[in-house]
Amino acid sequence: MTFARTQIEELLYRLFINAPATSLRDEDRRKSDEMAGLLDEVEAAVARRARKDELVLVDAAAGKATVGLLAAELVLAPRGRPARVRVIEREPARVAACRDAIARLRAPSVSVEVVAADVADPAAWPSEPDLVVALHACGRASDMIIDQSLAVRARELLLVPCCTSKDVSAAALADQRAEQLGMPRHAEVRRRFIQSIVDAERTLRLEAAGWQTTVVGFVAPTVTPHNLLWRAERVGELGRMAEAADRLARLRGAG
Ligand SMILES: C[S@@+](CC[C@H](N)C(=O)[O-])C[C@H]1O[C@@H](n2cnc3c(N)ncnc32)[C@H](O)[C@@H]1O
Repeated sequence: MTFARTQIEELLYRLFINAPATSLRDEDRRKSDEMAGLLDEVEAAVARRARKDELVLVDAAAGKATVGLLAAELVLAPRGRPARVRVIEREPARVAACRDAIARLRAPSVSVEVVAADVADPAAWPSEPDLVVALHACGRASDMIIDQSLAVRARELLLVPCCTSKDVSAAALADQRAEQLGMPRHAEVRRRFIQSIVDAERTLRLEAAGWQTTVVGFVAPTVTPHNLLWRAERVGELGRMAEAADRLARLRGAG
């Protein structure tokens, strides 16, 4: 671990709690476990872009931008070079909490722009950001973030999807496949199958678009059941793209 737990907890406290006679709650401590794992990933991604003068990081479906603001102070500011963080979040109360926290941020070389918008809105995104991070992007937000990251030609994506709702497009495909295979309708059995197809479709969609993708557990499943991180880097390897496109067609039943 690159960042000490105490360092993360102190920063969470200063940015988001900052009230006398209060301390971190259990959920804040769980958040600090997640942040320790995720900031390691952000640090490694930023190191891969070491020669870039101004780094641009997007925190998408950001909530109050815990990831973006901690990355600004702990990862980007210590580089001593200019950097920008674009926060995209649609809930006004979370946008307000983020703006409030920015006043307590100690990252003078990093400018933070907060955009109150849906992640599906192309106007909310900067072009060619170095890194897009999305922690617990719920339901369809994960797919929209993949689509927009491809559209703006982001260099890298660190995506941690959250719950899978019925409006996730691959969930309908998964249900159809489950019926074709005669899978039982028992909820727990069906849910795992659907999740697996949704995960596979996202992975292959990224790979077919030229993104080398690795899927790893970024934190223990006891901290959060949604502990899988998609680490995708745009490399444009033609052979890899063709193989993924072929697999994707077969998954969708068109091959
Ligand atoms: C589970 S929270 C995660 C927040 C934050 N990334 C974190 O881990 O602390 C999901 C956030 O995504 C936001 N969100 C969901 N769908 C969105 C969309 N389509 N556009 C923008 N924000 C969205 C929600 O408002 C919420 O703040």
